[in-house]
Amino acid sequence: MRIDVLTLFPEMFEGVFHTSMLGRAESKGILSFHTHDIREYSQNKHHNTDDYAFGGGAGMVMMAQPIFDCMEAVLNGESARRILMTPRGRTLTPDMARELAKEERIVILAGHYEGLDERISELIDDEISIGDYVLTGGELPAMVLVDCLARFIPGVLGCSESAEDESFSNDGLLEYPQYTRPADFRGRLVPEVLLNGNHAEINKWRRQQSLLKTLKMRPELLEGARLSKSDVEFLEQHGYAKQE
Ligand code: ADE
Repeated sequence: MRIDVLTLFPEMFEGVFHTSMLGRAESKGILSFHTHDIREYSQNKHHNTDDYAFGGGAGMVMMAQPIFDCMEAVLNGESARRILMTPRGRTLTPDMARELAKEERIVILAGHYEGLDERISELIDDEISIGDYVLTGGELPAMVLVDCLARFIPGVLGCSESAEDESFSNDGLLEYPQYTRPADFRGRLVPEVLLNGNHAEINKWRRQQSLLKTLKMRPELLEGARLSKSDVEFLEQHGYAKQE
């Protein structure tokens, strides 16, 4: 997959796109990253990319011209899924990331300032938010989106890892706790059940821990989770009352 990002701060992406799993995916040729500085497309003599809002109000608005020219130069007549990062967008979910991971090419526009001239909406296929809070720009959200969708592209995660068996893929439950050696760390012991090699018991314990963690941290997820009768009984013993 080819990923292009249109931004005023291309340097912000250097570390994230070329390190760790994303860097490895790039070396393997699974992903390629291209950042483009919107400011280079400004026709304004001071290379401004923003201006006052028509109608007044605080804050500057990103101008249409540099963004149109940058998008047109980047696409050069080719097609791609064009995404705007904005708190006004649909909230990112694993299903959205899984769908986007099938695209051959994605162009992400990371906005800044108070907003963008609404006329850029004709350049955009999807508006995506990473959550109900407002950041200073779309750069961090763009990195979050890329990292999240990359995990669904075959070959990005090692073969022993899978994007499908973690929190939010685990029947809609949060993940159970994990431990590694030593079994005794400064007197803090790993739960006995994990050491006895009885896989039926281990699986039962992990399921129950997932249920308890979800009940404690994100009880609303239980309504959409795939729960067996014994799961529901276990939750009820721990204070869960199913919504009718
Ligand atoms: N830009 C600023 N805040 C954002 C958010 N929460 N999601 C996506 N883009 C943003």
